[in-house]
Amino acid sequence: MERAATLGWMAKGMTSPNPPVGAVIVDSVGRIVGEGFTQPAGGAHAEVMAVRDAGDAACGATAVVTLEPCAHTGRTGPCTSVLLEAGISTVVYAVADPHPVAAGGHEVLVDAGVNVVGGFHADDVRRGALRAWLHRTVTGRAMVTIKTAVTLDGRVAAPDGTSQWITSVEARHHVHRDRATRDALIVGTGTVLSDNPRLTARQPNGELYAKQPDHVVLGSRVVPTTANIRAHSRFQQIDSHRLPQVIEELTEQGYVDLLIEGGPTLASAAVDTDVVDCIQWYVAPTILGSGEPVVHIPRVSTLTDKRNFAIDRITQLGPDVLIEASRQAELV
Ligand SMILES: NC(=O)c1ccc[n+]([C@@H]2O[C@H](COP(=O)([O-])OP(=O)(O)OC[C@H]3O[C@@H](n4cnc5c(N)ncnc54)[C@H](OP(=O)(O)O)[C@@H]3O)[C@@H](O)[C@H]2O)c1
Repeated sequence: MERAATLGWMAKGMTSPNPPVGAVIVDSVGRIVGEGFTQPAGGAHAEVMAVRDAGDAACGATAVVTLEPCAHTGRTGPCTSVLLEAGISTVVYAVADPHPVAAGGHEVLVDAGVNVVGGFHADDVRRGALRAWLHRTVTGRAMVTIKTAVTLDGRVAAPDGTSQWITSVEARHHVHRDRATRDALIVGTGTVLSDNPRLTARQPNGELYAKQPDHVVLGSRVVPTTANIRAHSRFQQIDSHRLPQVIEELTEQGYVDLLIEGGPTLASAAVDTDVVDCIQWYVAPTILGSGEPVVHIPRVSTLTDKRNFAIDRITQLGPDVLIEASRQAELV
């Protein structure tokens, strides 16, 4: 299952609105004889790729999959049929499919005489590549993460506006790798006009990752045609400050995993309107003493106005730390 979960990450960022699933085929002595992950939307599902990879060795083998195999015909046929035709004798999956249309694969397989084990390492897998898709499926809304690079005293820019390179090169490499797994990055016009960022996902050697996130700019000011952000991927500007509606609109467009990389104005509005599901704080061991705080919500007056998050993970990145946390009320 650990290997299947790793394969799921290889699909992450390329499959939306479909889930990034990983699958392995294991023979009777425990050897992996086939591997696969979901292809871009409209392409083959993970089980199909793994069965193809295994060839004749799939007959009598065990399929280990991160998500319950689907039993319905969408743009591709049911995965349950592919597993049955290949002669798979046991299916082990982690997370039950919460999608009302695609669910039911477990029963179809059992009825056909296959041994089925569901819920295997489900909690670990749920927190991995499938997380945003599960969130969207259960809540009906794309998962929104807010990312920022911040000093120990919570500042994102100095009083003169300088803000680039708060964190180390290790933290920046992590940011770029993470961008390659997201469906779209969101910033406000303020960041575009002051920094002219490319917002691409670049490898440490400077080359672009194969998968680039789409770009969304919020606000009414004109983004110049020469702005770097227009160069490398699908770009759209939404002239709105109403974040909940914007997230709804982007969900309708098929986005599942959204990363807000905006400045303090957008970050504050996102926290204030409760659209933030996860936070990703890259913290540099620096005290600035003055300048823009990452979030400032003037109407907050007392401690009961605070927003609570639960820490998911803390990672040391060179001299910095990355704090990842999710809203306590998050459903998945
Ligand atoms: N350290 C970091 O991680 C980090 C990251 C990004 C930026 N920055 C720094 O932040 C500074 C830019 O800050 P910023 O706050 O101007 O950037 P921003 O938050 O990216 O953009 C602000 C603009 O977003 C638009 N907007 C969209 N929704 C809004 C809403 N609900 N409420 C208010 N405005 C909304 C408005 O544009 P219109 O007026 O056009 O409608 C607003 O002026 C730069 O110095 C940049 O370097 C730091």
